Amino acid sequence: MVDEAVSGPGAGEGPVNEGRRRFLTATTLVVGAVGAGVAAIPFIKSWNPSARAKLAGAPVTVDISALQEGQRLIAEWRGQPIWIVRRSKAILEALPTLDSQLRDPESENVDQQPAYVLAANPELRSIKPDVSVLVGLCTHLGCSPEMVAEIRPAPFDANWKGGYFCPCHKSKFDMAGRVYDGVPAPTNLLVPPHHYADDNTLVIGVDPEGAA
Ligand code: FES
Repeated sequence: MVDEAVSGPGAGEGPVNEGRRRFLTATTLVVGAVGAGVAAIPFIKSWNPSARAKLAGAPVTVDISALQEGQRLIAEWRGQPIWIVRRSKAILEALPTLDSQLRDPESENVDQQPAYVLAANPELRSIKPDVSVLVGLCTHLGCSPEMVAEIRPAPFDANWKGGYFCPCHKSKFDMAGRVYDGVPAPTNLLVPPHHYADDNTLVIGVDPEGAA
């Protein structure tokens, strides 16, 4: 599995919390690991606004045409990591089976996602069924959880169906960012406002035209 950061951290300004610090460190490492061999990175960066504009909240555009099943792109919007993950058919089929283990399986906490990502299927929390877009910060204290996307027994869950594990205090989320019951994180991962300019062009930070 290949993680690819599409934009690096902006210049540090203002207070930096621990979760953001972890993200910045992680992003720097990812860029360092893939930067030499991935020509797409400077191309994608050229679409994006300056670091100062991003911190102010400017939208970020991401080309997802090369995103394969099981892979994740990491963008940055408003100083936060945005995970863009292409989910497999097996993962999509596993999500409804998890509902009884989750705190808010139908995303009734309206603060955690825009309504349009629930319109087609609340269990997926996405506009396109296979592409998940999430703010990659734990809703407990803001650490950046690890993606463990494979359906197989994990050290922290023998019945693991893929998802995100936060090693800070052992919170677990499924591949739609829905939080498990009985963990410290109180809510599902946040879904940022976003839309598709075309089939392969994701715009983070702007709702679809006409969305309530
Ligand atoms: S910050 Fe993720 S579980 Fe505490």
